[in-house]
Amino acid sequence: MLLYEKKGAVGILTVNRPEALNAINSALLDELYDKVSEIAADESVRCLILTGSGKAFVAGADIGEMKDLSKQEGYEFGMRGHRSFTAVENLEIPVIAAVNGYALGGGCELALCADIRIASERAKFAQPEVGLGITPGFGGTQRLIRTVNRAKAMEMILTARTVSAQEALEMGLVSRVVPGEELMNTALALAESIAANAPVAVRNAKAAVRRSYARELNEDLEAEAKLFADCFETEDQRMAMTAFVNKTPKTEFKGK
Ligand code: CAA
Repeated sequence: MLLYEKKGAVGILTVNRPEALNAINSALLDELYDKVSEIAADESVRCLILTGSGKAFVAGADIGEMKDLSKQEGYEFGMRGHRSFTAVENLEIPVIAAVNGYALGGGCELALCADIRIASERAKFAQPEVGLGITPGFGGTQRLIRTVNRAKAMEMILTARTVSAQEALEMGLVSRVVPGEELMNTALALAESIAANAPVAVRNAKAAVRRSYARELNEDLEAEAKLFADCFETEDQRMAMTAFVNKTPKTEFKGK
């Protein structure tokens, strides 16, 4: 479910499950962890680009897999996501997310693990979880607030609204928006300009910048996993996810 290629000193990792808009299931999380560990050990790679196949970057965690999870399984799923996503974020080399399309839920959260996000004009961002009866569970509650201002983060998380690439640019969620056909060349040029700089200095600069960003992040991610887990087995979670899977309209939420 992942494709990997190297162009000189730049690695390109593509989430490749286009039939499900690259939705992330447990198997994909484990594959991601293994691949990122391999990339971390390859000293010839100086910058990584993350992107998605087809019309999505990643359309979220796999709703079909989450639908029937117990609270305990929800916790484990959240922690499994944290393990893989944190591995991406903790890469010593810079990571650029080239957001080619939908970056929803876990997709927006994966992009947030990158150091730089650039978006195609077609990209769309959202944290739609509260409309599915759950909270963001792969770091959205922690990384979005550390990336954009609190009002914007809260608005995205509490309304579940989808924002355009342009709006994402205005709020500082991405640093550039380019036409879709220019996305990969722009990402590659950016990656090559980073890779041409002194590797130890680049690595140390990233580590230095990340200090304040990452303070207490691990504890906060664990707290997120507990709150995420608590939403499972509720009537609202079961109803909303079943409606998505069955392609039927949701009924009203009951708070149960
Ligand atoms: N999980 C599982 N399957 C998904 C999926 C997801 N998150 N997103 C899309 N798919 C599947 C669809 O079920 C569909 O499969 P079939 O062809 O087998 O029916 C296929 O991908 C194509 O999707 P659509 O037919 O829905 O495509 P569309 O163009 O009509 O709509 C979309 C695109 C608006 C992105 C819509 O697919 C959608 O709303 N997806 C769900 C987005 C979402 O809510 N993501 C958040 C998940 S929760 C989360 O991520 C929690 C967390 O933090 C851990």
